[in-house]
Amino acid sequence: MYVLGIESSCDETAAAIVTERKEILSNVIYSQIDEHKIFGGIVPEIAARAHLEKIDLVVAKALADAHLDISEITAVAGACGPGLIGGLIVGSTFAKTIAMAMGIPFVATNHIEAHALSVRLTENVSFPYLLLLVSGGHCQLCVVHGIDLFEVLGKTIDDSVGEAFDKVAKLLGFGYPGGAALEKEAVHGNDGAFFLPSPLCREKSCDFSFSGLKTAVLIASQRCNSPQDKANLCASFQKTAVNILGRKTKRALNICRAKNIKITAVIAAGGVAANGAVRKELHSVSASDGLSFLAPPPQLCTDNGAMIAWLGVEKLLLNQTHDLNFAPRPRWPLGE
Ligand code: KG4
Ligand code: ZN
Repeated sequence: MYVLGIESSCDETAAAIVTERKEILSNVIYSQIDEHKIFGGIVPEIAARAHLEKIDLVVAKALADAHLDISEITAVAGACGPGLIGGLIVGSTFAKTIAMAMGIPFVATNHIEAHALSVRLTENVSFPYLLLLVSGGHCQLCVVHGIDLFEVLGKTIDDSVGEAFDKVAKLLGFGYPGGAALEKEAVHGNDGAFFLPSPLCREKSCDFSFSGLKTAVLIASQRCNSPQDKANLCASFQKTAVNILGRKTKRALNICRAKNIKITAVIAAGGVAANGAVRKELHSVSASDGLSFLAPPPQLCTDNGAMIAWLGVEKLLLNQTHDLNFAPRPRWPLGE
C-alpha cells in the first residue's frame, strides 16, 4: 500500500509516501519560514499563498523521490485541521483532487492525531500509551487508547510550550520560530542563574500554564547585560519548562496507575519533542516508573507529510475513508 500524505496546516508545505510496512519512501518538506521571518510570526495569507505556489512541486518531488508514478498511489491522506484555514483548503483540496482524478480513497486526517500516532511509524508501540503532545499550537497529556480514542488528562490553560519557547526566543533576539535556536544557546548557559516560576505545578491537575513563565523571562531579561547572561536565561527558561513537562508527566502516570490503565510506554510528539533536554527528562521520568520513553526522530517531531501519510495507513487498515465533501476544520479537537 502506497499512501500519499499532504500537510499544509501551518507554515510547512509537505508531502510524503509511506507504506503499511512502515517504509518512508519519500518525505519532502518546504518550509515557509523565510517568508514569515521578517514579520516575527506566521502571516496566514502569506502562508496560504505559499502553499498554493509550492504544493504541486512538493507532491511531484515526493512521487519522484519514491520512484513512483501517481497511478501507483493507493490512497491520499490530507491534513484537514486543526490549523490555518487558507492552508488547509489548499492542501485538502489538492489531496481530494488527486483522489477524485485517480479514483482512489481519500482520508481526512487530524494534524494533532497524526503527531499523536507518528511514533508508531518509527517504533513498535501498542495501545494504550501516555502521550505528551508538545507543539507550537498544543500542549496536552493524554492516554492514547487507540485510533480516534483519546483520553485527555490535561492541557494548557493559556500558551502552548512551543509558543513559550518561540516568544522567549523572539524576546532574546533569535527570530522566529526560535525553539531550536534557544536550545542551542542554552547549552552555553548556567541553568541555575535565574530563578523562574513553574505555574500550576503545585496543583494536582495535569493542566499546564506557560504565560506566567514567559512574563517572568521578560522581566528577567531586563537584567541581561552580556551574551553570557542571555545564554544563562535561555538555559534557566529551558530547565524550568522541561521540569514542568516532567512533573506533569509524572502526575499523569500516577493518574494512569490510580485508574488502572496499563500504559505500554511514554511517548512525546510535536515540535518541542525534538528538544534534547525534553527527551532526556521524559526518559528519566519514564524510567523511574519502569516504563520506556519513545519519540519519533527529531525530524519527524516537527510538521511533516510522513505523519499524515502514516495516519492515512492506520485509518485505511480500519477501512476508514472519507467523502470528498469533508470540509476542512480550523478547530478540530482530538477525538472529535
Ligand atoms: O509540531 P510543530 O512543527 O508545529 C505545530 O504543529 O505547531 O511544532 C513547532 C514548534 C515551534 O514552537 C518550535 O519552536 C518548536 O516546535 N520546536 C522546538 C524545537 N524544535 C522545534 N522547541 C524547543 N526545542 C527544539 N529543538
Ligand atoms: Zn504540528
